Amino acid sequence: MDGAAGGVPTQRLEWAAQAAHPQDKMKRYEKFADEIAELIRTGVLAPGQKVPSVRHASRTYGVSASTVFQAYYLLESRGLIMARARSGYFVCQHVQRPLREPEVASREAATTEVDVSELVFSVLSSIKDPDTVPFGSAFPSPELFPLQRLARSMSHAVREMDPRSTVADMTPGNHGLRRQIALRYMVGGLPLPIEELVITNGALEALNLCLQVVTRPGDLVAIESPAFYASLQVLERLKLKAVEIPVHPREGIDLEVLERSLEQLPIKACWFMSNFHNPLGASLAEARKRRLAELLKQYQVPMIEDDVYAELYFGQQAPKPVKAFDSEGLVMHCSSFSKSLAPGYRVGWVAGGRYAGEIERLKLMTSISASVPAQAAIADYLQHGGYDRHLRRLRYALESQQNAMLAAVARHLPEQTRVSRPDGGYFLWLEFPEQVDSLRLFQLALAQGISIAPGPIFSATRSFSNCARLNYGHPWTTRSEQAMETLGRIIRSL
Ligand SMILES: Cc1ncc(COP(=O)(O)O)c(C=O)c1O
Repeated sequence: MDGAAGGVPTQRLEWAAQAAHPQDKMKRYEKFADEIAELIRTGVLAPGQKVPSVRHASRTYGVSASTVFQAYYLLESRGLIMARARSGYFVCQHVQRPLREPEVASREAATTEVDVSELVFSVLSSIKDPDTVPFGSAFPSPELFPLQRLARSMSHAVREMDPRSTVADMTPGNHGLRRQIALRYMVGGLPLPIEELVITNGALEALNLCLQVVTRPGDLVAIESPAFYASLQVLERLKLKAVEIPVHPREGIDLEVLERSLEQLPIKACWFMSNFHNPLGASLAEARKRRLAELLKQYQVPMIEDDVYAELYFGQQAPKPVKAFDSEGLVMHCSSFSKSLAPGYRVGWVAGGRYAGEIERLKLMTSISASVPAQAAIADYLQHGGYDRHLRRLRYALESQQNAMLAAVARHLPEQTRVSRPDGGYFLWLEFPEQVDSLRLFQLALAQGISIAPGPIFSATRSFSNCARLNYGHPWTTRSEQAMETLGRIIRSL
């Protein structure tokens, strides 16, 4: 979590952090492990390099030998270092050859009618089989969530529920839950009034409501290319036209192309992900987030910020949203607990800025309220369940699974394959040699019991035909390794 920002004194933030999560304080060895992980991530400690011996680290950093040991065990379980008999610990050679990043598809914005729903539905319906290797899935493994602890919160919250709350907790939502969410924003350096928060049925409803508030049929909406397929379907349903702005796999959305588009076209809204973009994994650096907020201000265009993966970062600090740089109330920040805590509970929210009131009214007209028991359960869990501790474990698991999948890409897929290496989330984006048709690959892999998410479902113009998104949100097993080997064989045959 960040220190003081947005004019809030550090002390107040620390107090708020402890008040919100008294039992979640990070242990010394976890902090030390994070410091070493950062050195590895930034390349200061290179693959194959020896990490400082326990004695040396203990002396240099002023921590006990047992703290260093615990930190090294943790880094080992995160797939970052490995022990060699009688030689000490070394940074893992995740990849036996350097993996190249995918390229940006185009440099210019394209305006299009959207027509992807059929393709998306046909792909999604075929990957539901639980026996299929879920590389094409949009969800992480349910095993990674504290479902038993949540069930206790659900049962406690429902038993204690004041019967009047079934009315009182309707839109804008359960006050305790909104207070916990507001505290998390504050600890992250973005204090906002609780009145801005509207609880929704997952992030997707929040995104839909926002878009409906700021557009009319026929309007132009700037979206990313590639984009989360549901955003394309929403545009199609609302009869909106997409202005596709290219996204770089590491740097995120191309701000020059966006600026030109805002200058030349009557764009009514932007819908972007600034952290751990789905499907590319890209995040905007802070300076670019600030620049984006300036562009919104200059052109007075609202932005719907989809930030559902924000909690799944591998670095030391939560990334800030664009909303943290928005002084105009133009950014509607949407997120949920679906990817980080409670899949299936369907609890999300929007911090709606200047549009909060309109969003609240539209929510009432659309579905009245999010489920009252589910809201109460999550409010109870956030207060007593140890959310930050769970998040740390979840991040470690995802990071180690990413390392395992990257190593498998290097081992089994053709050498020309390019792959993203995101700093969070649970998706890799792969670019295969030109001739590989990912829709054909999807069919052939599915026949072998393996799902993938083919590139064209992420584009209004069915681009990215030689690309695919792979999910590493599931514990890595021999079956996953074999599935990667099979994918490699199929790709070589195309
Ligand atoms: C980028 C993105 N935004 C929004 C959602 C929807 O989130 P929720 O399940 O909370 O509605 C998803 C789910 O797959 C997603 O990947």
